[in-house]
Amino acid sequence: MTNLIDGKTIAEKVYVDLREKIAELKSRGVTPGLAVVLVGDDPASRAYVRSKDKMSRELGLHSVKLELPANTTQQELLGKVAELNRDPKVHGILVQSPPPKQIDEAAVIRALDPRKDVDGFHPENVAKLALGDETGFVPCTPLGIQRLLIESKIDISGAHVVVLGRSMIVGKPIALLLMQKGKGGDATVTVAHSRTKNLEAITRSADIVIAAIGRAHFVKAGHVRDGVVVIDVGINRVEDATNARGYRLVGDVDFENVAPKAKAITPVPGGVGPMTIAMLMSNTVKACRQSLK
Ligand code: GUN
Repeated sequence: MTNLIDGKTIAEKVYVDLREKIAELKSRGVTPGLAVVLVGDDPASRAYVRSKDKMSRELGLHSVKLELPANTTQQELLGKVAELNRDPKVHGILVQSPPPKQIDEAAVIRALDPRKDVDGFHPENVAKLALGDETGFVPCTPLGIQRLLIESKIDISGAHVVVLGRSMIVGKPIALLLMQKGKGGDATVTVAHSRTKNLEAITRSADIVIAAIGRAHFVKAGHVRDGVVVIDVGINRVEDATNARGYRLVGDVDFENVAPKAKAITPVPGGVGPMTIAMLMSNTVKACRQSLK
């Protein structure tokens, strides 16, 4: 029988642990602070930023939500980042991606204080992940996926994990994370992408498939073997006239088609999504604790 991996329930467990850590910090007179910066008015980005701000408040964090107009210049944005870098009440900073096209995103990421880079996108944190230095920040979605697998008691050690997608946000960091030595690691990882030949033969040899390619319902039953574990990172809008919003969200995996073959699978929504926000909160608490050392 297919086991549904419930990201909401697992995220709740993370919050129980985080609330304790936050209370302990507050008893020492320190409130973890998170700044979320949105440039422009992309509706999906706006929704993500709103939910990050809401969760920060629910946990009692100091939350700063900066909404800047779509015509914000690079200099203006760098000025805001510099201010947040200096602000002692802010321990974590996130600039929502993707920014408008006049913004050089890589330069903005380099301008972040790496000790406040709770997204784990700064080159110093990317290097720390590759090096296995645990003082760094790991991007939230990969960290959430690893936690989902651990909490669901999926064997990662020695498993063949096939990652679909090679982005800096998901594909590359999840590969690094799961191949690390030790708990939550020791996997044999293959990273496949749009140029990969014989994709189905590769995914069919996987014990765990992680789909992060941004194409609705790309992964079908023919891509996987019986007993596979499937993690669906996709959040794609597809038109749906029966839905009041005119669209619905679907993953990169054709759930109905694949689920009968899977030992365990994440739904969309309610799988990876809630874990990503939980890991952002967790990274913010970590940044705060490390700032006290
Ligand atoms: N856009 C999509 N995912 C992310 C993320 O994890 N962090 C940021 N900053 N932007 C995103």
